[in-house]
Amino acid sequence: MISSKNTTTFKKEIAQGIPTELPEKRAYPTGVNRAPRRKDILNIEEKKLAVQNALRYFPEQWHKDLAQEFLDELNTFGRIYMYRFKPAYKMYARPIDAYPAKTNKAAAIMLMIQNNLDPAVAQHPEELITYGGNGAVFQNWAQYLLTMKYLSEMTEDQTLHMYSGHPMGLFPSNKDAPRVIVTNGMMIPNYSKPDDLEKFNALGVTQYGQMTAGSYMYIGPQGIVHGTTITLMNAFRKILKKGEDAKGKVFLTSGLGGMSGAQPKAGDITGCITVCAEVNEKAAVKRHEQGWASIIITDMEALVKRVKQAQENSEILSIAFHGNIVDVWEKFDEENIFVHVGSDQTSLHNPWSGGYYPAGLNFEEANELIRTDPELFKQKVQESLRRQAKSINNHAAKGTYFFDYGNAFLLEASRAGAEVMGSKENQFRYPTYVQDILGPMCFDYGFGPFRWVCTSGDPKDLDKSDQIAVEVLTEIRSTAPEEIQLQMNDNIIWIKNAKKNKLVVGSQARILYADAEGRAKIAAAFNNAIAQGHISAPIVLGRDHHDVSGTDSPFRETSNIYDGSQFTADMAIHNVIGDSFRGATWVSIHNGGGVGWGEVINGGFGMVLDGSGEAEARLKSMLFYDVNNGIARRSWARNKEALFAIKREMSRSPDLNVTLPNLVEEDVLNELKF
Ligand SMILES: NC(=O)c1ccc[n+]([C@@H]2O[C@H](COP(=O)([O-])OP(=O)(O)OC[C@H]3O[C@@H](n4cnc5c(N)ncnc54)[C@H](O)[C@@H]3O)[C@@H](O)[C@H]2O)c1
Repeated sequence: MISSKNTTTFKKEIAQGIPTELPEKRAYPTGVNRAPRRKDILNIEEKKLAVQNALRYFPEQWHKDLAQEFLDELNTFGRIYMYRFKPAYKMYARPIDAYPAKTNKAAAIMLMIQNNLDPAVAQHPEELITYGGNGAVFQNWAQYLLTMKYLSEMTEDQTLHMYSGHPMGLFPSNKDAPRVIVTNGMMIPNYSKPDDLEKFNALGVTQYGQMTAGSYMYIGPQGIVHGTTITLMNAFRKILKKGEDAKGKVFLTSGLGGMSGAQPKAGDITGCITVCAEVNEKAAVKRHEQGWASIIITDMEALVKRVKQAQENSEILSIAFHGNIVDVWEKFDEENIFVHVGSDQTSLHNPWSGGYYPAGLNFEEANELIRTDPELFKQKVQESLRRQAKSINNHAAKGTYFFDYGNAFLLEASRAGAEVMGSKENQFRYPTYVQDILGPMCFDYGFGPFRWVCTSGDPKDLDKSDQIAVEVLTEIRSTAPEEIQLQMNDNIIWIKNAKKNKLVVGSQARILYADAEGRAKIAAAFNNAIAQGHISAPIVLGRDHHDVSGTDSPFRETSNIYDGSQFTADMAIHNVIGDSFRGATWVSIHNGGGVGWGEVINGGFGMVLDGSGEAEARLKSMLFYDVNNGIARRSWARNKEALFAIKREMSRSPDLNVTLPNLVEEDVLNELKF
């Protein structure tokens, strides 16, 4: 229970922004998960500039006190976080009424920001990092304080413009405009190499927003569990006979870290035997203790015995194995343990500094080698990747279905000289999860990670919203075409079991893969329930950027685009602009996220439903575009599922008129004389 005195003090502190008196210097906390020290990349002149940049948030009389402190932070941590200014109040998503605001939209955004910084949710809360090691909400605490102050003052005739965590200010706009516009890491394209990020982030002029970190839309681990479950269920469907289930069939993979840790839980929901190898004992134990893996095994012989037993008894079982994934692939090959589905979720987007641990070294030895002999470490990683790929090839020859999980496994294995290339030039012999599964089965039909947050903070509202979603989806399924019956079923099962799976961490949030029709109808039903008082406070709608239309990323979200346009970013840019004037409460567009700085452009939105007629008009207009933009682009790229979906949408939406591709007969191309 929050006392009214606490609420008043909290409101005052928020409205104050940067305090009028210089706060005491704080000792750096020890017990929390701190962000790694960043590269010391600036020269002396640049460091002066970084300190000068940081001091512009504060009155001149504090500069002498703060200048050296900020330089020390820069030298120690590689960034200036301004720890002294971190507020003393508890950081978490309060019920919406607790926020001082002139519009409930601004209050909802404050709630979402605080959720992203809640220590129960955020990976490195002291450094304002929500997830992914570097997914920042703000660059420093002054930006947080100022932003919250602006939001507390904002009216429905103003828009707050956020430049990579820095609030440029409130500008006059109008009530139909977004209340907040966010950009993160947008660079002149030639300045988008990894070291550019290090440099300009250290200078305090840009940040890496990942996807839902810098756009205030992170909802903890349930987003990943749902996406991984959808992927795994469909991976099994690709190889199982009709009517056959996944019981007693092995899914072999690796990684029990941030996202990868969802795999055993997703395996349990799918109903298979999951074997997930993890070299870091702490990570393996943590996931087991959290109940995300049913058992933990540390000995290879014991693993073999238990897996054979589980196969014989057709069990559903998830095993966290403390050991290297390469050894497991090789041992299972030797023992002839049939692996039905295989993947890998080591962090190969970051291969040389701890994303991938080579076979033959234990965790501590590998970490030591990274420091003492990075060149030898690199050789060992590449050797290990060649071994891993060779063993996977042996399994594939026996019938294993292997897919790349968007972690750059195939890319790095190919760079290491492993045999992973296919028969066509520049193509791997295994698909990515988007090429084979999420792209054709979900994104091309418009299904993606729609989500919502109940701003009352009351679990009863979440229960009510789950129930509404089930009713709406069941109704839609009754007339849905055969092509999307499977997806509808999966989503109904997911939402029916969502509460039982106990995945809420932080705000009262839910994720659900839904298509344009599902998203709009669920949202309209929520709005109606709020109007009628069945849900007690506004609901925030949003989605992951990893979706149908939000993200252009040639090796992940758009890896199933084959017309050459996978290297363009028009779709993500159109999406953010298109959403902004169709009713989004806030929009964001980012460089980087998931696969790395310079490798992806991704965007998202937030929309506050308050039960009003205006909210209903906005949701109808914006959610329709937010999904169909991507389907149109995917259909123009000749993806047959997207062609089906966009034609179906045109047939029922007379104002939609999309350019359709004419398909060319293979013979016409084959007969060309060059
Ligand atoms: N889950 C998803 O939906 C999804 C989607 C796209 C991409 N990815 C990618 O998956 C990768 C993993 O993400 P994360 O957040 O879990 O990263 P993470 O770094 O938190 O976890 C990776 C884990 O792999 C372990 N590991 C490394 N080498 C190993 C080896 N040889 N054998 C066994 N374990 C080993 C590490 O100790 C670490 O705990 C990233 O590259 C991410 O971009 C995941």
